[in-house]
Amino acid sequence: MDTVHYPTPAVTTEHRPLACAFTKMRAHTLALIAPLSAEDMVVQSMPDASPVKWHLAHTTWFFETFLLKDQPGYKLFDPDYAYLFNSYYEALGPRQPRAQRGLLTRPPLADILAYRAHVDDAMSGLLEADLPAETEALIRLGIAHEEQHQELILMDGLHLLAQSPLKPAYCPRTPADAGGRQGRFQLRPGGLVEIGHAGEAFAFDNEAPRHRTWLQPFEISDRLVTNGEWLAFMQDGGYSRPDLWLSDGWAQVQANGWNAPFYWQASEDGWQEMTLRGLQAIAPGAPVTHISYYEADAYARWAGARLPTEAEWEAAAADGVLEQVDDVAWQWTGSAYLPYPGFLPGAGAVGEYNGKFMSGQMVLRGGSAFTPAGHARPTYRNFFAPEKRWLRSGLRLARDIS
Ligand code: AVJ
Ligand code: FE
Repeated sequence: MDTVHYPTPAVTTEHRPLACAFTKMRAHTLALIAPLSAEDMVVQSMPDASPVKWHLAHTTWFFETFLLKDQPGYKLFDPDYAYLFNSYYEALGPRQPRAQRGLLTRPPLADILAYRAHVDDAMSGLLEADLPAETEALIRLGIAHEEQHQELILMDGLHLLAQSPLKPAYCPRTPADAGGRQGRFQLRPGGLVEIGHAGEAFAFDNEAPRHRTWLQPFEISDRLVTNGEWLAFMQDGGYSRPDLWLSDGWAQVQANGWNAPFYWQASEDGWQEMTLRGLQAIAPGAPVTHISYYEADAYARWAGARLPTEAEWEAAAADGVLEQVDDVAWQWTGSAYLPYPGFLPGAGAVGEYNGKFMSGQMVLRGGSAFTPAGHARPTYRNFFAPEKRWLRSGLRLARDIS
């Protein structure tokens, strides 16, 4: 079988939207890493973060494993990569321990880029055919998966560069966060609402099924809490008053010496913040970012409010009450990350994607400036453990009606 694959997809994929989405998404990953050096891409700055080189390979391994490896005629790029680049799929066998991904100086970056090209070539062959619905669904999942890793590349890249005494910019042209007016509480009637994903468009399995849930009347802010508001919390002793904190949160404050958001540092000219643009003065009007769930919760208590539940958030978003869904920062909710009633993970290894993490984590809603365009939606459920701070997290307030 001699198939010629043309490198420029613009013409051939015009009437193949999935092929077009795949090619654009893969190109965006390479555009995101363009400012980094090969050395930047090897180091693992903490166990939660992964080297950029690992992200490039793991997302490629995902397509190879779930779409290509059983196609007739497909040749595995390298059988060792299943061990190196499996993230957490128990059904797919043993893997490099997460905290030791940074020890993978081999294979070199050039091999990983060749791996990407090898898989891209095989995927473009696959995408030329008329595919069964299940195959298309897996390709959509692979695209959404790599988009999640695009956000992780920025999170992990920022964390790495923040460890450098030089505080280098990831990309000096990154736009600054937009500020604006302070939030206003919007009164919501509550009642019987529907949340969750239904329909043909892509969504992760954890967003379904759509279901009814009951909400008491509530108020929710149409804007995120800003850096300036966070400073007022700090100046009022927010980080030194145990009465504001959950017990687990207070333990984190004490164990880690938290006294400001993750990337803030004090200077002679006031607080500065490490960003993708390097070290910057705090912008008082911009949303506060890189706070843990515990900090968000303590702030809300200090402000005489609370965090919205994910159902309140989604109902308010559906009614057009929130300023925008695709925001500067993910917003911690007061909801534990649990299965919706009737949730069914996919069969086989891919069923490990989301469902097995439904313990000990909290849901975040919205999206962030690190989230690729078009990736999130109003039913999207992001999730992290409550002490994590390297994600681009912020908060909006809610209140009970008294
Ligand atoms: C949804 C961001 C928590 O980082 O593990 C990446 C995304 N899932 N590969 C994570 C994800 C599989 C996930 N988060
Ligand atoms: Fe992954």
